[in-house]
Amino acid sequence: MIKLQKSTFFKEKETKLKLCEFITKANVLSMGEECKKFELNFAKKQNRGHAVFVNSGSSANLLLIQALLNSGRLKKGDIVGVSALTWATNIMPLIQLGLQPFLVDCEIDSLNVSSRTFREALDIQPNMKAFFLTNTLGLSDDIGRIVKHCTDNGIVFFEDNCEALGSVVDGRLLGNYGIASTFSFFVGHHISAIEGGMICVDDDDLYNHLIMARSHGWDRNLSTDARKEIRKRYGISDFFAKYIFYDLGYNVRPTEINGFLGNNQIIYWDEIVNKRHQNFTRLHQVIVENNKLVPIRFGHMSLVSSFAIPVILRDLSTVKSYMKRFIDAEVEIRPMIAGNMARQPFYQKYISNPGNQPNAEFIHKNSFYFGNNPELTVEEIELLSGLLKE
Ligand SMILES: Cc1ncc(COP(=O)(O)O)c(C=O)c1O
Repeated sequence: MIKLQKSTFFKEKETKLKLCEFITKANVLSMGEECKKFELNFAKKQNRGHAVFVNSGSSANLLLIQALLNSGRLKKGDIVGVSALTWATNIMPLIQLGLQPFLVDCEIDSLNVSSRTFREALDIQPNMKAFFLTNTLGLSDDIGRIVKHCTDNGIVFFEDNCEALGSVVDGRLLGNYGIASTFSFFVGHHISAIEGGMICVDDDDLYNHLIMARSHGWDRNLSTDARKEIRKRYGISDFFAKYIFYDLGYNVRPTEINGFLGNNQIIYWDEIVNKRHQNFTRLHQVIVENNKLVPIRFGHMSLVSSFAIPVILRDLSTVKSYMKRFIDAEVEIRPMIAGNMARQPFYQKYISNPGNQPNAEFIHKNSFYFGNNPELTVEEIELLSGLLKE
Protein backbone atom coordinates (compact mmCIF):
# COMPACT_ATOMS: atom_id res chain seq x y z
CA MET A 1 0.00 0.00 0.00
CA ILE A 2 1.33 3.46 -0.90
CA LYS A 3 -0.26 5.68 1.72
CA LEU A 4 -0.74 9.43 1.51
CA GLN A 5 1.48 9.78 4.54
CA LYS A 6 4.23 7.22 4.14
CA SER A 7 5.96 7.92 7.46
CA THR A 8 5.72 10.19 10.47
CA PHE A 9 9.18 11.67 9.87
CA PHE A 10 11.93 11.61 7.29
CA LYS A 11 14.35 8.92 8.51
CA GLU A 12 11.71 7.77 10.95
CA LYS A 13 13.56 5.12 12.95
CA GLU A 14 16.57 7.19 13.92
CA THR A 15 14.40 10.26 14.55
CA LYS A 16 12.24 8.31 17.01
CA LEU A 17 15.32 7.01 18.84
CA LYS A 18 16.73 10.54 19.14
CA LEU A 19 13.34 11.76 20.37
CA CYS A 20 13.25 9.11 23.14
CA GLU A 21 16.70 10.17 24.29
CA PHE A 22 15.77 13.84 24.20
CA ILE A 23 12.60 13.32 26.28
CA THR A 24 14.49 11.20 28.84
CA LYS A 25 17.12 13.87 29.38
CA ALA A 26 15.10 17.09 29.02
CA ASN A 27 14.22 19.11 32.11
CA VAL A 28 11.79 21.38 30.29
CA LEU A 29 9.21 20.14 27.79
CA SER A 30 7.02 23.25 27.54
CA MET A 31 8.05 25.94 25.00
CA GLY A 32 11.74 26.76 25.56
CA GLU A 33 15.20 26.59 24.02
CA GLU A 34 14.44 23.98 21.32
CA CYS A 35 11.49 26.04 20.07
CA LYS A 36 13.60 29.22 20.02
CA LYS A 37 16.37 27.38 18.15
CA PHE A 38 13.89 26.04 15.59
CA GLU A 39 12.55 29.57 15.01
CA LEU A 40 16.06 30.87 14.36
CA ASN A 41 16.94 27.91 12.13
CA PHE A 42 13.72 28.28 10.17
CA ALA A 43 13.97 32.07 9.70
CA LYS A 44 17.53 31.61 8.42
CA LYS A 45 16.63 28.83 6.00
CA GLN A 46 13.52 30.66 4.75
CA ASN A 47 15.49 33.90 4.61
CA ARG A 48 13.01 35.96 6.66
CA GLY A 49 13.58 38.36 9.55
CA HIS A 50 11.51 36.45 12.12
CA ALA A 51 9.79 33.10 12.56
CA VAL A 52 7.12 32.42 15.22
CA PHE A 53 6.57 28.76 16.08
CA VAL A 54 3.05 27.58 17.02
CA ASN A 55 1.24 24.29 17.55
CA SER A 56 -0.23 23.84 14.02
CA GLY A 57 -0.56 25.40 10.58
CA SER A 58 -4.17 26.22 11.42
CA SER A 59 -3.04 28.07 14.55
CA ALA A 60 -0.49 29.91 12.41
CA ASN A 61 -3.32 31.15 10.17
CA LEU A 62 -5.52 32.10 13.15
CA LEU A 63 -2.69 33.88 14.94
CA LEU A 64 -1.62 35.77 11.83
CA ILE A 65 -5.14 37.11 11.22
CA GLN A 66 -5.43 38.09 14.91
CA ALA A 67 -2.06 39.88 14.78
CA LEU A 68 -3.05 41.71 11.59
CA LEU A 69 -6.18 42.90 13.41
CA ASN A 70 -4.35 43.74 16.66
CA SER A 71 -1.74 45.75 14.76
CA GLY A 72 -4.40 47.68 12.80
CA ARG A 73 -3.39 46.32 9.40
CA LEU A 74 -6.88 44.83 9.05
CA LYS A 75 -10.10 45.84 10.73
CA LYS A 76 -13.34 44.02 11.47
CA GLY A 77 -15.61 43.82 8.44
CA ASP A 78 -12.78 44.02 5.88
CA ILE A 79 -13.14 41.91 2.75
CA VAL A 80 -10.26 39.47 2.38
CA GLY A 81 -9.66 37.49 -0.83
CA VAL A 82 -8.76 33.80 -0.39
CA SER A 83 -7.99 30.97 -2.80
CA ALA A 84 -11.09 28.94 -3.64
CA LEU A 85 -8.90 25.82 -3.67
CA THR A 86 -7.44 25.83 -0.17
CA TRP A 87 -7.77 24.32 3.28
CA ALA A 88 -10.70 25.19 5.55
CA THR A 89 -8.60 26.72 8.32
CA ASN A 90 -7.24 29.23 5.87
CA ILE A 91 -10.75 30.72 5.65
CA MET A 92 -12.26 29.89 9.04
CA PRO A 93 -10.22 32.42 11.08
CA LEU A 94 -11.45 35.19 8.78
CA ILE A 95 -15.06 34.30 9.59
CA GLN A 96 -14.28 33.72 13.28
CA LEU A 97 -12.62 37.12 13.59
CA GLY A 98 -15.30 39.13 11.81
CA LEU A 99 -13.75 39.51 8.35
CA GLN A 100 -15.47 38.69 5.07
CA PRO A 101 -13.81 36.05 2.88
CA PHE A 102 -14.13 36.35 -0.89
CA LEU A 103 -13.20 33.27 -2.95
CA VAL A 104 -10.73 33.77 -5.81
CA ASP A 105 -10.74 31.11 -8.52
CA CYS A 106 -7.69 29.08 -9.59
CA GLU A 107 -6.25 28.15 -12.99
CA ILE A 108 -6.89 24.51 -13.93
CA ASP A 109 -3.32 23.88 -15.10
CA SER A 110 -1.55 25.42 -12.09
CA LEU A 111 -4.19 24.77 -9.39
CA ASN A 112 -3.32 28.24 -8.15
CA VAL A 113 -4.70 31.76 -8.33
CA SER A 114 -3.13 33.71 -11.21
CA SER A 115 -3.00 37.45 -11.86
CA ARG A 116 -5.79 36.81 -14.39
CA THR A 117 -8.19 35.15 -11.92
CA PHE A 118 -7.18 37.69 -9.26
CA ARG A 119 -7.99 40.64 -11.54
CA GLU A 120 -11.33 39.04 -12.41
CA ALA A 121 -12.10 38.70 -8.69
CA LEU A 122 -11.16 42.35 -8.12
CA ASP A 123 -13.54 43.42 -10.90
CA ILE A 124 -16.36 41.70 -9.02
CA GLN A 125 -15.15 42.72 -5.56
CA PRO A 126 -13.16 45.99 -5.86
CA ASN A 127 -13.27 46.58 -2.08
CA MET A 128 -10.86 43.77 -1.25
CA LYS A 129 -8.57 45.04 1.54
CA ALA A 130 -6.29 42.01 1.72
CA PHE A 131 -5.47 38.83 -0.15
CA PHE A 132 -4.50 35.61 1.68
CA LEU A 133 -3.08 33.47 -1.13
CA THR A 134 -2.59 29.73 -0.72
CA ASN A 135 0.40 28.30 -2.59
CA THR A 136 -1.59 25.20 -3.44
CA LEU A 137 0.14 21.81 -3.58
CA GLY A 138 3.66 23.26 -3.77
CA LEU A 139 2.76 24.98 -7.03
CA SER A 140 2.26 28.59 -7.98
CA ASP A 141 1.14 30.76 -10.89
CA ASP A 142 2.42 34.26 -11.74
CA ILE A 143 2.68 35.25 -8.07
CA GLY A 144 4.98 38.22 -8.81
CA ARG A 145 2.23 39.85 -10.85
CA ILE A 146 -0.35 39.22 -8.13
CA VAL A 147 1.94 40.93 -5.62
CA LYS A 148 2.40 43.91 -7.97
CA HIS A 149 -1.35 44.16 -8.39
CA CYS A 150 -1.83 44.13 -4.61
CA THR A 151 0.89 46.75 -4.08
CA ASP A 152 -0.58 49.02 -6.77
CA ASN A 153 -4.06 48.75 -5.24
CA GLY A 154 -3.08 49.03 -1.55
CA ILE A 155 -4.11 45.43 -0.85
CA VAL A 156 -2.35 43.71 2.07
CA PHE A 157 -0.84 40.49 0.71
CA PHE A 158 0.14 37.40 2.72
CA GLU A 159 0.67 33.72 1.93
CA ASP A 160 -0.49 30.38 3.28
CA ASN A 161 2.60 28.34 2.44
CA CYS A 162 1.58 25.21 4.37
CA GLU A 163 1.75 23.15 1.16
CA ALA A 164 4.77 24.71 -0.50
CA LEU A 165 7.80 24.78 1.80
CA GLY A 166 10.90 24.93 -0.42
CA SER A 167 9.20 25.72 -3.75
CA VAL A 168 10.94 28.45 -5.73
CA VAL A 169 9.47 30.87 -8.30
CA ASP A 170 11.64 33.41 -10.15
CA GLY A 171 14.51 32.66 -7.82
CA ARG A 172 12.46 33.44 -4.71
CA LEU A 173 11.16 30.95 -2.15
CA LEU A 174 7.38 30.80 -1.91
CA GLY A 175 6.47 32.22 1.47
CA ASN A 176 8.69 35.26 0.82
CA TYR A 177 6.34 37.20 -1.43
CA GLY A 178 3.99 38.69 1.17
CA ILE A 179 4.26 40.59 4.46
CA ALA A 180 3.79 37.25 6.22
CA SER A 181 3.52 33.56 5.46
CA THR A 182 2.35 30.48 7.34
CA PHE A 183 3.71 26.91 7.37
CA SER A 184 2.53 23.53 8.69
CA PHE A 185 4.63 20.77 10.21
CA PHE A 186 1.83 18.23 10.45
CA VAL A 187 2.73 14.66 9.47
CA GLY A 188 2.85 14.35 5.69
CA HIS A 189 3.86 17.97 5.15
CA HIS A 190 7.42 18.68 4.00
CA ILE A 191 8.90 18.82 7.48
CA SER A 192 7.09 16.94 10.24
CA ALA A 193 7.15 17.91 13.91
CA ILE A 194 4.08 15.65 14.46
CA GLU A 195 2.08 18.87 14.84
CA GLY A 196 3.34 22.42 14.42
CA GLY A 197 3.18 25.59 12.40
CA MET A 198 5.25 28.70 11.73
CA ILE A 199 4.62 32.30 10.76
CA CYS A 200 7.37 34.20 8.97
CA VAL A 201 7.53 38.00 8.93
CA ASP A 202 10.14 40.72 8.49
CA ASP A 203 8.36 43.58 10.24
CA ASP A 204 9.31 43.97 13.94
CA ASP A 205 5.95 45.42 14.98
CA LEU A 206 3.95 42.57 13.39
CA TYR A 207 6.39 40.10 14.95
CA ASN A 208 5.80 41.55 18.43
CA HIS A 209 2.03 41.33 17.93
CA LEU A 210 2.39 37.66 16.93
CA ILE A 211 4.57 36.91 19.96
CA MET A 212 2.03 38.48 22.34
CA ALA A 213 -1.05 36.91 20.71
CA ARG A 214 0.61 33.46 20.78
CA SER A 215 0.69 33.55 24.58
CA HIS A 216 -2.45 35.04 26.13
CA GLY A 217 -1.74 38.60 24.92
CA TRP A 218 1.00 39.16 27.51
CA ASP A 219 4.49 40.60 26.97
CA ARG A 220 6.62 37.91 28.64
CA ASN A 221 8.08 36.50 25.42
CA LEU A 222 9.01 39.85 23.86
CA SER A 223 12.64 41.00 23.75
CA THR A 224 13.82 43.01 26.79
CA ASP A 225 13.68 46.25 24.81
CA ALA A 226 10.20 45.58 23.41
CA ARG A 227 8.94 44.66 26.92
CA LYS A 228 10.33 47.88 28.37
CA GLU A 229 8.79 49.91 25.56
CA ILE A 230 5.28 48.47 25.87
CA ARG A 231 5.28 48.68 29.69
CA LYS A 232 6.30 52.34 29.45
CA ARG A 233 3.65 53.02 26.81
CA TYR A 234 0.89 51.54 28.96
CA GLY A 235 2.34 52.79 32.29
CA ILE A 236 2.68 49.26 33.71
CA SER A 237 4.75 48.60 36.85
CA ASP A 238 7.07 45.57 36.97
CA PHE A 239 4.91 44.14 39.77
CA PHE A 240 1.81 43.88 37.53
CA ALA A 241 3.61 43.34 34.21
CA LYS A 242 3.46 39.55 34.25
CA TYR A 243 -0.31 39.61 34.48
CA ILE A 244 -1.14 42.34 31.98
CA PHE A 245 -2.93 41.26 28.79
CA TYR A 246 -2.48 43.96 26.14
CA ASP A 247 -4.62 42.60 23.34
CA LEU A 248 -6.62 39.58 22.21
CA GLY A 249 -4.61 36.37 22.22
CA TYR A 250 -4.61 32.59 22.57
CA ASN A 251 -2.41 29.87 23.87
CA VAL A 252 -1.14 28.27 20.64
CA ARG A 253 2.36 27.51 21.91
CA PRO A 254 4.30 24.50 20.68
CA THR A 255 6.19 22.15 23.01
CA GLU A 256 9.89 21.32 23.21
CA ILE A 257 9.06 17.96 21.64
CA ASN A 258 7.85 19.73 18.48
CA GLY A 259 10.84 22.09 18.63
CA PHE A 260 13.29 19.20 18.95
CA LEU A 261 11.68 17.41 16.01
CA GLY A 262 11.69 20.59 13.92
CA ASN A 263 15.44 21.09 14.55
CA ASN A 264 16.02 17.46 13.75
CA GLN A 265 14.11 17.47 10.49
CA ILE A 266 15.14 20.90 9.17
CA ILE A 267 18.67 19.58 8.54
CA TYR A 268 17.11 17.43 5.79
CA TRP A 269 15.33 20.42 4.16
CA ASP A 270 17.35 20.35 0.91
CA GLU A 271 17.28 16.56 0.65
CA ILE A 272 13.52 16.42 1.25
CA VAL A 273 12.72 19.28 -1.15
CA ASN A 274 14.98 18.03 -3.95
CA LYS A 275 13.59 14.50 -3.70
CA ARG A 276 10.03 15.79 -3.88
CA HIS A 277 10.96 17.92 -6.90
CA GLN A 278 12.58 14.91 -8.60
CA ASN A 279 9.54 12.70 -7.94
CA PHE A 280 7.23 15.41 -9.21
CA THR A 281 9.10 16.03 -12.47
CA ARG A 282 9.63 12.28 -13.06
CA LEU A 283 5.91 11.49 -12.68
CA HIS A 284 4.89 14.62 -14.54
CA GLN A 285 6.75 13.39 -17.65
CA VAL A 286 4.27 10.49 -17.75
CA ILE A 287 1.31 12.84 -17.20
CA VAL A 288 2.40 14.97 -20.18
CA GLU A 289 2.33 11.93 -22.46
CA ASN A 290 -1.21 10.95 -21.46
CA ASN A 291 -3.76 12.93 -23.46
CA LYS A 292 -6.50 12.17 -20.98
CA LEU A 293 -4.68 14.12 -18.23
CA VAL A 294 -4.19 17.88 -17.84
CA PRO A 295 -0.46 18.63 -17.44
CA ILE A 296 0.65 21.15 -14.85
CA ARG A 297 2.25 24.39 -16.04
CA PHE A 298 5.36 24.86 -13.89
CA GLY A 299 8.04 26.07 -16.35
CA HIS A 300 8.40 29.29 -14.33
CA MET A 301 9.30 27.34 -11.17
CA SER A 302 12.88 26.25 -10.49
CA LEU A 303 11.80 23.98 -7.59
CA VAL A 304 8.44 22.25 -7.12
CA SER A 305 8.37 21.01 -3.55
CA SER A 306 5.06 19.20 -3.82
CA PHE A 307 3.70 16.85 -1.16
CA ALA A 308 1.24 15.31 -3.63
CA ILE A 309 0.90 14.55 -7.33
CA PRO A 310 -2.30 15.94 -8.89
CA VAL A 311 -4.21 13.78 -11.38
CA ILE A 312 -6.55 16.02 -13.40
CA LEU A 313 -8.81 14.32 -15.96
CA ARG A 314 -9.91 16.36 -18.96
CA ASP A 315 -13.13 14.38 -19.23
CA LEU A 316 -15.43 13.80 -16.26
CA SER A 317 -16.43 10.38 -17.63
CA THR A 318 -12.88 9.02 -17.09
CA VAL A 319 -12.44 10.12 -13.46
CA LYS A 320 -13.97 7.03 -11.85
CA SER A 321 -11.95 4.57 -13.92
CA TYR A 322 -8.68 6.38 -13.10
CA MET A 323 -9.57 6.44 -9.40
CA LYS A 324 -10.28 2.71 -9.56
CA ARG A 325 -6.84 2.06 -11.11
CA PHE A 326 -5.14 3.62 -8.11
CA ILE A 327 -7.45 2.02 -5.54
CA ASP A 328 -6.99 -1.44 -7.11
CA ALA A 329 -3.22 -0.97 -7.02
CA GLU A 330 -3.50 -0.04 -3.31
CA VAL A 331 -2.42 3.55 -3.79
CA GLU A 332 -4.23 5.84 -1.37
CA ILE A 333 -5.91 8.80 -3.12
CA ARG A 334 -8.01 11.72 -1.97
CA PRO A 335 -9.87 14.77 -3.32
CA MET A 336 -7.78 17.75 -4.43
CA ILE A 337 -7.15 19.25 -0.98
CA ALA A 338 -10.84 19.63 -0.06
CA GLY A 339 -12.22 20.73 -3.41
CA ASN A 340 -13.95 24.03 -4.01
CA MET A 341 -14.41 25.76 -0.65
CA ALA A 342 -17.71 27.25 -1.83
CA ARG A 343 -19.19 23.76 -1.54
CA GLN A 344 -18.20 23.25 2.09
CA PRO A 345 -21.06 23.28 4.61
CA PHE A 346 -19.25 25.70 6.94
CA TYR A 347 -18.82 28.17 4.04
CA GLN A 348 -22.43 27.97 2.98
CA LYS A 349 -23.57 28.40 6.59
CA TYR A 350 -21.72 31.69 7.11
CA ILE A 351 -21.35 33.23 3.64
CA SER A 352 -24.61 34.05 1.90
CA ASN A 353 -23.23 34.54 -1.62
CA PRO A 354 -20.39 32.10 -2.39
CA GLY A 355 -19.87 33.53 -5.93
CA ASN A 356 -18.61 31.62 -8.98
CA GLN A 357 -15.42 29.59 -9.24
CA PRO A 358 -15.71 27.58 -12.48
CA ASN A 359 -12.11 26.30 -12.45
CA ALA A 360 -12.12 25.26 -8.79
CA GLU A 361 -15.42 23.56 -9.57
CA PHE A 362 -13.81 21.67 -12.47
CA ILE A 363 -10.93 20.61 -10.20
CA HIS A 364 -13.45 19.56 -7.53
CA LYS A 365 -15.08 17.12 -9.93
CA ASN A 366 -12.29 16.08 -12.30
CA SER A 367 -9.30 15.46 -10.10
CA PHE A 368 -7.72 13.65 -7.17
CA TYR A 369 -4.21 13.28 -5.79
CA PHE A 370 -1.81 10.73 -4.36
CA GLY A 371 1.11 11.39 -2.02
CA ASN A 372 4.59 12.49 -3.02
CA ASN A 373 6.99 11.36 -0.34
CA PRO A 374 10.78 11.84 -0.34
CA GLU A 375 11.14 8.19 0.64
CA LEU A 376 9.21 6.73 -2.32
CA THR A 377 11.21 3.77 -3.65
CA VAL A 378 12.21 3.20 -7.30
CA GLU A 379 9.65 0.36 -7.46
CA GLU A 380 6.91 2.61 -6.09
CA ILE A 381 7.73 5.33 -8.62
CA GLU A 382 7.58 2.68 -11.38
CA LEU A 383 4.19 1.49 -10.15
CA LEU A 384 2.85 5.06 -10.01
CA SER A 385 4.21 5.82 -13.50
CA GLY A 386 2.39 2.77 -14.83
CA LEU A 387 -0.88 3.97 -13.33
CA LEU A 388 -0.51 7.38 -14.95
CA LYS A 389 0.02 5.97 -18.44
CA GLU A 390 -2.77 6.16 -20.98
C1 LIG B 1 -3.13 25.18 2.74
C2 LIG B 1 -3.20 24.70 4.16
N1 LIG B 1 -3.32 25.60 5.16
C3 LIG B 1 -3.40 25.20 6.43
C4 LIG B 1 -3.35 23.88 6.79
C5 LIG B 1 -3.47 23.50 8.23
O1 LIG B 1 -2.30 22.95 8.77
P1 LIG B 1 -2.39 22.04 10.07
O2 LIG B 1 -2.89 20.70 9.66
O3 LIG B 1 -0.97 22.00 10.57
O4 LIG B 1 -3.29 22.70 11.03
C6 LIG B 1 -3.25 22.90 5.80
C7 LIG B 1 -3.24 21.48 6.17
O5 LIG B 1 -3.02 20.57 5.43
C8 LIG B 1 -3.16 23.31 4.44
O6 LIG B 1 -3.08 22.42 3.44
